[in-house]
Amino acid sequence: MTHLQESWFSRIAGQGARMLRTLPPEFAHDVAIRCLEADSLAWFPGACFPGAAPDVAAAASGPDVDLRVSVPGIGTIPHPVGLAAGFDKNARAIRGLARLGFSHMEIGAVTPLAQPGNPRPRLFRYPADESLINRMGFNNDGAEMISARLRALAWNHESCPVGVNIGKNKDTAASEAIDDFLKVHDAFKDSASFFVVNLSSPNTPGLRELASPAFVERIAAAFGPRTRGLWIKFDPDMSRDVFQELVRATGDHGFAGLVLTNTHRVASPQAGGQSGAPLAALSNRTLEWAWEVHRGAIPTIGVGGMMTGRDIFDKIARGSRAVQIYTSFVYRGPWVVAMMLRELKEELRRRGFHSVAEAFGSYHA
Ligand SMILES: Cc1cc2nc3c(=O)[nH]c(=O)nc-3n(C[C@H](O)[C@H](O)[C@H](O)COP(=O)(O)O)c2cc1C
Repeated sequence: MTHLQESWFSRIAGQGARMLRTLPPEFAHDVAIRCLEADSLAWFPGACFPGAAPDVAAAASGPDVDLRVSVPGIGTIPHPVGLAAGFDKNARAIRGLARLGFSHMEIGAVTPLAQPGNPRPRLFRYPADESLINRMGFNNDGAEMISARLRALAWNHESCPVGVNIGKNKDTAASEAIDDFLKVHDAFKDSASFFVVNLSSPNTPGLRELASPAFVERIAAAFGPRTRGLWIKFDPDMSRDVFQELVRATGDHGFAGLVLTNTHRVASPQAGGQSGAPLAALSNRTLEWAWEVHRGAIPTIGVGGMMTGRDIFDKIARGSRAVQIYTSFVYRGPWVVAMMLRELKEELRRRGFHSVAEAFGSYHA
């Protein structure tokens, strides 16, 4: 793959992404998923995004800066950048997304039963702020269908670990929520690489209110030894005291780690969860608060507002073992992983680091 070809492909893909952004947001998302699904077809792999995989490989490799990271329970991955939950809720496009270079990804949120989510419109773009607001409400095909899809793929998790974001059905009472978590976990126990319990979506009434130390303890009691494979995803809107109590509970009960964070709850210009650039500071704040409690002992995956490689550096320096993106994928297009890895390398080099591992936690030094 020559440099000229790479730039042609990435330029065309960039144009495609710009065209998508002229369409209504959720329709554009569906088109993107269909393209990635087509890209997954065995008879013509890489058809929609030729050249992406080699371009990411080139961006990730090289002797100067080592981007590899080891995430306990997930494994050693070639670079830290994964895809956040909510993009491929139904596990339709895993192969295509892996080809775009994500080092790991979360599918879902998956609930035990299929549900339609909230009425449309429920996804809104704010390009001037590089943000999105969504109130999707866990629209998904349900655990049975999605796990069958993942099993049929016979996915090689060593190439790209795929985890499941676990949700509860809207109609499930709070007192029954853990049964929902167990059902989803059970459906994927042989096909997923890791699990993230979602206690943080602002769009399922009552879900965030479950995030208490007592509830975290109840989850651990219900899951028993399986708790070691469970991550918990929290929201960025809590006070420091409340948040730090939760971090302590997560560590005390032996969870795999923390995914920080979900979206920021807003009431205007639309009600829902805000993602993208305005979320970065809030999400970074939770990483700092978490570090005050665990000093790097609880594995943390940083999510929220990373638009450039520099923003990835900020998360790693604050103690994230890996990171996940969503909104920058929408705004920067299918080459986002390659672009952000180049920027991350540049930032590491500028600061005199030779590897991501070396930069881990450096903000707190
Ligand atoms: C349309 C949309 C749907 C989402 N759905 C989920 C979800 O089902 N489960 C979840 O844990 N997070 C979900 N998220 C949150 C993302 O995983 C991520 O935490 C958030 O967008 C912040 O990252 P970003 O600023 O890079 O987008 C969703 C985000 C968006 C924009």
